[in-house]
Amino acid sequence: MDSLESLMARRLSPKRYNHSLGVAQTAAELAESSGTDRQKARIAGLVHDYARELPTEQLVALARKLGVEDDISLACPELLHGPVGAHLIESELGIEDPEILLAVTSHTLGRRKMGKLEQIIYLADMIEPGRRYPGAERLRELAQSGLQSGILGALDHTLRFLLEAGKPIHIRTIEARNYLLMGGE
Ligand SMILES: [Fe+2]
Ligand SMILES: [Fe+2]
Repeated sequence: MDSLESLMARRLSPKRYNHSLGVAQTAAELAESSGTDRQKARIAGLVHDYARELPTEQLVALARKLGVEDDISLACPELLHGPVGAHLIESELGIEDPEILLAVTSHTLGRRKMGKLEQIIYLADMIEPGRRYPGAERLRELAQSGLQSGILGALDHTLRFLLEAGKPIHIRTIEARNYLLMGGE
């Protein structure tokens, strides 16, 4: 077990640690097949949920301090674990790679013009082998035909889910999808 893995194993519940290992592995495979840095993808996958188990009050307080909150994320505070996690892996783990930081930031909401590593982590988070929900298998199949179809399918799935659950939809997730739909890479 390398030190980053053991650190995450101590920080997260066993269930979420296993999820993180799954995301790291899936992200590394997606990186390999899309010509992206495999090691960066593995690290980003391993730490993407760094702030996921912080108590809500602490998450909100940190988000406010950093100025990364908005109406929708305050209404659904778990969305804040992306940007807050990116801040913490930089300040506490010394991870400074801008692509890794962006990938951790964007894994909850996406954003317009996501880079490849951001797409990989967003998608890997939804299709790692431990994920079992209706539609997960279909997303895995889509991901096999390429990162572009995988990420579009993942964003579609999220938007459909939110709509059906009657939950607010963040503009960033819509912008992520629109950009890709209209030919952006
Ligand atoms: Fe997450
Ligand atoms: Fe996750």
